[in-house]
Amino acid sequence: MKTKETYMQDLKQWLQDTSDSPLEEMSDFFSKRLAGYEEHMSVWKQSYQTFAKLLPLECEKILDLGCGTGLELEPIWQRHPGLEVTGIDLCPDMLQKLLKKHPDKRLTTICQDYFQYDLGSGKWDAVISFESLHHFLPERKRGLYQRIYNSLKDGCAFILGDYIACCDEEETLLRDTYQTKRIQSQIPDHRFVHFDIPLTLEHEKELLQGAGFIIKEILNNPDNATILVAQKGD
Ligand SMILES: C[S@@+](CC[C@H](N)C(=O)[O-])C[C@H]1O[C@@H](n2cnc3c(N)ncnc32)[C@H](O)[C@@H]1O
Repeated sequence: MKTKETYMQDLKQWLQDTSDSPLEEMSDFFSKRLAGYEEHMSVWKQSYQTFAKLLPLECEKILDLGCGTGLELEPIWQRHPGLEVTGIDLCPDMLQKLLKKHPDKRLTTICQDYFQYDLGSGKWDAVISFESLHHFLPERKRGLYQRIYNSLKDGCAFILGDYIACCDEEETLLRDTYQTKRIQSQIPDHRFVHFDIPLTLEHEKELLQGAGFIIKEILNNPDNATILVAQKGD
């Protein structure tokens, strides 16, 4: 495992090497990489298993934000074959692949921006999201976390598996780079682009707690996807 210093050195080098790469629109980014996507994400195989085990067996109806091709859903369905899932994603190609893989499942897909989608009220036994929300600034996530909170049944949880910055320096460096690149490329505020801007664990927790969640569990995995279980009520 890398030390924080080596990790930050490598990150700075990578940002320098890619400084001329243009930002890509979010949905196009995933469409273009669809063929190799699942292989690329296989580094998180263990995290997907751990993530699935955190979903209570009594859940009947869940919402997945940024479900992509459903890698987190596969181990979930192994444990809960009858689970009813609504998956939201911006990218039609990712959703098409998901539907093709699971014609037999109780699955509804919605091709939409989850910041715009009406999540409902007191409706879900769990809301989940894996490796999607680190693409957005906290100001945008704050309102979404409040809506996720409202959409859950009492006592139910938002289970978030995501890329978490190792320190304030990483969070600030990536956010500054993202903002500079957006300005340079004159990208309007409403356009989503693919660039990682993870928060530190402290800042991610503050956002969740600000929405009213109680943090029940935090798992820091060796392969680097951090999982937080944020519950509505005790
Ligand atoms: C790295 S992939 C993760 C997909 C899946 N959760 C997994 O672990 O394989 C991120 C996904 O989030 C989706 N996404 C990003 N921003 C979104 C938004 N605002 N609304 C809906 N989906 C979004 C992308 O299209 C992409 O499929």
